Amino acid sequence: MESQFDTAVSAYEHSMEEMPFREHVEAWSFLKAVGDVTGRSVLDLGCGSGLYTRRLRQEGAARVVGMDESAAMVEHSRRREEREGLGVEYLAADAADPAAGDLPGIAGSFDVVTAVYVLPYASSREALEGFCATARRALRATGGRFVAAVLNPEFSTDPQWYRGYGMLLSSQESPAEGTPGHLRAWVGSDVLDLDFFRWSAAAHEQALGAAGFDRFSWIRPSVSEEGRARYGEAFWANYLNCPHALIIDAHAGPGAVPDRRARPAEHNSAGPGE
Ligand SMILES: C[S@@+](CC[C@H](N)C(=O)[O-])C[C@H]1O[C@@H](n2cnc3c(N)ncnc32)[C@H](O)[C@@H]1O
Repeated sequence: MESQFDTAVSAYEHSMEEMPFREHVEAWSFLKAVGDVTGRSVLDLGCGSGLYTRRLRQEGAARVVGMDESAAMVEHSRRREEREGLGVEYLAADAADPAAGDLPGIAGSFDVVTAVYVLPYASSREALEGFCATARRALRATGGRFVAAVLNPEFSTDPQWYRGYGMLLSSQESPAEGTPGHLRAWVGSDVLDLDFFRWSAAAHEQALGAAGFDRFSWIRPSVSEEGRARYGEAFWANYLNCPHALIIDAHAGPGAVPDRRARPAEHNSAGPGE
């Protein structure tokens, strides 16, 4: 499938080194939220160039599968896997289609599903729910967790706010769900231009509830000790005051995967910033 990410392979591959916030805030906070993966099976939706799939495997996950709809991203990740032999599997599929969660080797197979910066590319509520349904279907019947880094619904549109971190985010001033937005990112010598969609906290929670997640919390990112020491407290101030992304840690208990047409399940939640 053609994707706006097909030409972004090299930028993503180098983004951890080129963008200090990715390593010292995002990876630090996200991997902490995912927790110990030793012996676990993990599905990484929208795995991109495989930054997190490789890392999760290196951290001891027994099985890691990366799923992405961009043929170029999957091809790149597979080529790296051929060279490095980490034992990560890659699959080209549209994770916004719940049928992806029913694929052989995916359905009911994972302890944890991850997704870093993937839900913001849901162009409709159906797609947002589709990502969550894929995650739920891929989890074991006994339940599991879906840990996702998503766009902070309250991200700053001040053009200078994330400039020091190599990003500029813009979107129309509209309370409407799924409002289009744009991200420009400077990654070394590459400039990335990506279109995304802005979803409220409630829309995320509703999509998770509809997919069968019954408990979730929102986590604000923090900075690693190394990041503080290397760049200084002042460097991180804007980002920590209003991060461009938040982490959702969603839990599903044992039980049947709900029909997508069913009403959203009752759920408990701790909203963003709580
Ligand atoms: C912003 S990139 C993040 C890549 C990777 N998770 C990372 O953190 O480096 C988003 C990725 O999600 C993928 N993606 C977007 N929509 C998707 C969909 N419907 N199904 C599968 N992958 C999707 C894109 O192809 C892209 O590789």
